[in-house]
Amino acid sequence: FFISSDGSAVVEHTSQVVYLNDGELACIGPDGLHVTTTDAIPVHKEVTELEMTLEQIQLDGYEHHMLKEINEQPASLRDAMRGRMHQGQVWLGGLQVIDREWARCQRLMLTGCGTAWHAGLIGEYLFEELARIPTEVQYASELRYRNPIVEEGTLAVAISQSGETADTLAALHEVHTKGATVLGLVNAVGSTIARETDAGIYLHVGPEIGVASTKAFTAQVAVLTLMAIDLGRRRHLSAEYTAEILAELEQLPDKVAAALDLDAQCAALAKRLTERDNWLYMGRGINFPVALEGALKLKEISYIHAEGLHAAEMKHGPIALVDLDMPVIFVAALDSTYEKVLANIEEVNARGGRIIAIASKGDTRLEGLAEEVIYVPASHPLLSPILTTVPLQLIAYHAALERGHDVDKPRNLAKSVTVE
Ligand code: G6P
Repeated sequence: FFISSDGSAVVEHTSQVVYLNDGELACIGPDGLHVTTTDAIPVHKEVTELEMTLEQIQLDGYEHHMLKEINEQPASLRDAMRGRMHQGQVWLGGLQVIDREWARCQRLMLTGCGTAWHAGLIGEYLFEELARIPTEVQYASELRYRNPIVEEGTLAVAISQSGETADTLAALHEVHTKGATVLGLVNAVGSTIARETDAGIYLHVGPEIGVASTKAFTAQVAVLTLMAIDLGRRRHLSAEYTAEILAELEQLPDKVAAALDLDAQCAALAKRLTERDNWLYMGRGINFPVALEGALKLKEISYIHAEGLHAAEMKHGPIALVDLDMPVIFVAALDSTYEKVLANIEEVNARGGRIIAIASKGDTRLEGLAEEVIYVPASHPLLSPILTTVPLQLIAYHAALERGHDVDKPRNLAKSVTVE
């Protein structure tokens, strides 16, 4: 027998695992495994087959897990969407058990921590735009202590790669107690959050080893998009518009593969800017959370101070930080806020900031305004966050390498945060 806190630690030796719940004790002796409660009541445990292989957790020629996982995104997005789109419809089998609550939900509450929370912020735009459902997003650490208002028709979604984050788990218990139906959007199969939610959708992107979340994030956004389309279709969304977005989703993995070709450009950029100790990331609309995510990626692995900001809020304070040395990364996809972002870029330009723009291919208006433009494939505006995120992941990765840090194990951080 092996005892571990994660399946990936034992997959080299076995694929058969037993998950312990809170309040359970495992006793291993020559006569085998005995599980009891802490009150010594025997518990029968099922043996579960691990849904991961050794190959999935090996580096496979890559220097780091993070780089491998960034490059896996075309495949991981395909895996996350596989079998879930069919003839102009979305099919999410995991929602079947709560189909009634799902179809009738009046209000959504999305929660998570770190990168998962950023995915939730993008989800908010998706649900409001596609399904016209009032949606709020809260840090799990806030939600658990906030006395959240749960009414008839409130459905909560706990977003978590590991399915073990203590704050997210506590938040889901809190809203559960208050009567909300709780859905899990989780990657780790069999994890605590997956087990304690009323229903759930797995990401199916395979193990994510790098502490900085990458492929889980893009899959979370893709699955939230499918959920929003499904809910929208049951309400106001037309068959035509649904078919249009689904067709765009089908193309997304190939477009992400094209965005990965930006690696050399991102590496050169990171090398050029790595001496700068403070960076700003700006975006608006559905790409505002991408600015937050880009800044988080940079700070967690390169230890460069970075702030993600809403570009319109810049004039209320942060613009005072802009000088000739400050790298300012604008996420300027061709979405509904594009013209406004352009105006914000001009404001920073006038103050001499070093502007890097993440833009959509075919957009010619940024040349001359930005020091450098990184072009990702054009897409449906609602799907642009998945594409604009990719170069930001690569920039963070290369900046950390330049600074000589252990990319997969950044200081002071843990992959699964199982404490408050
Ligand atoms: C940790 C990780 C982050 C992650 C967050 C939430 O802080 O370092 O990458 O976004 O936890 O984790 P979860 O497993 O709940 O998505």
